[in-house]
Amino acid sequence: MTVLYDDIGELVTNDPTVGDGTTLGVLTKAAVLVDGDRITWIGPKAEAPEADRRIDCAGASVLPGFVDSHAHLVFAGDRSAEFAARMSGTPYDGGGIATTVAATRAASDDLLAANVARLANELHRGGVTTFETKSGYGLTTFDEQRSLELGGRFTPETTFLGAHVVPLDYRDDREAYVRLVAGDMLAACKDHARWIDVFCDRGAFDVDEARFILQTGRDAGLIPRLHAGQLGPSGGIRLAVELGAASVDHCTYATEADIAALAGSDTVATLLPGAEFSTRAPWPDVRRFIDAGATVALATDCNPGSSYTTNMAFCIAVAVRDMGFTPAEAVWSATAGGAKALRRDDVGVLAVGRRADFIRLDAPSFVHLAYRPGVPIIADVVCGGTPL
Ligand code: NIG
Ligand code: FE
Repeated sequence: MTVLYDDIGELVTNDPTVGDGTTLGVLTKAAVLVDGDRITWIGPKAEAPEADRRIDCAGASVLPGFVDSHAHLVFAGDRSAEFAARMSGTPYDGGGIATTVAATRAASDDLLAANVARLANELHRGGVTTFETKSGYGLTTFDEQRSLELGGRFTPETTFLGAHVVPLDYRDDREAYVRLVAGDMLAACKDHARWIDVFCDRGAFDVDEARFILQTGRDAGLIPRLHAGQLGPSGGIRLAVELGAASVDHCTYATEADIAALAGSDTVATLLPGAEFSTRAPWPDVRRFIDAGATVALATDCNPGSSYTTNMAFCIAVAVRDMGFTPAEAVWSATAGGAKALRRDDVGVLAVGRRADFIRLDAPSFVHLAYRPGVPIIADVVCGGTPL
């Protein structure tokens, strides 16, 4: 069955060959034809073809569904007390991860799955049509494998993060934990994950440990991505470039050398405004990245410690207000940028043959995502041609 989304006032395609010629490829007075889960026609509404069904968008803005390339959805427990303490001055150092690990290990599969379902539903309602999720709160072979199996029920974009931190039970023998992650744990997890990630930062894993784990994961068929530069400068960002990682995430403390390395590479810099917001960290200045020529994505980093939000519109608003993004750059980074960070060419862009994943705003322009912070202007979300 064909469905025509008609009378779109402003259509963001992310296809620079159409529309106004900008990176966002904005078409005005447009229509989109969908057949099954794919887009089969895009153009001026005056030239729209016949369809089995017509949906009137009444002059609204339509844009690609958000692609959230970084989230940690498989966990149990609550860390609101840690957040409150932080807002009273206690700094974030990742130490609270152990609290979530204990709660996650103690939780049933049903509880963990219900938690992922709740968060996935929040993501969808907020306009996210593709998302990634990681393990990393199990930190035993059994719990990492089950985290990935549970996450994989909701998304194909699953990431093995056995190297989140060294768990308390291995506090006195971190080398043994690194061997476990790259050995039995990887063997049990590799068929349940597409990606492998390491938290390469102060208090987590150093560059040599991260290189060893990521190279071993790559040999097992997983594609590297990294957490780096969240708590301080380290060689983690350059390691990501060295390994050809799809993305390096956080980059709060990126140095000039890090940015120069990113600019000459295919590794996407994924910025996570929810983390700076919720940990009172300094804001990275995106102008340094974009002006150097790096590709930048925006993601929620939804997790119970450093960024407990599923709301990409909130992340866009904060990125524009505090990280130097223009509204157009922020929207591109939360859609096409996220797709690049996940090496997906079927999402993030609205064009013939791509997935019919898009958002209708209760607003005339995408700028309202930053201009109307905290206001629920995501009116409809269509995912694979199906309204959610
Ligand atoms: O991306 N940095 C490491 N991991 C998460 C936070 C984990 C937590 O505090 O529970 C992050 O910010
Ligand atoms: Fe994270």
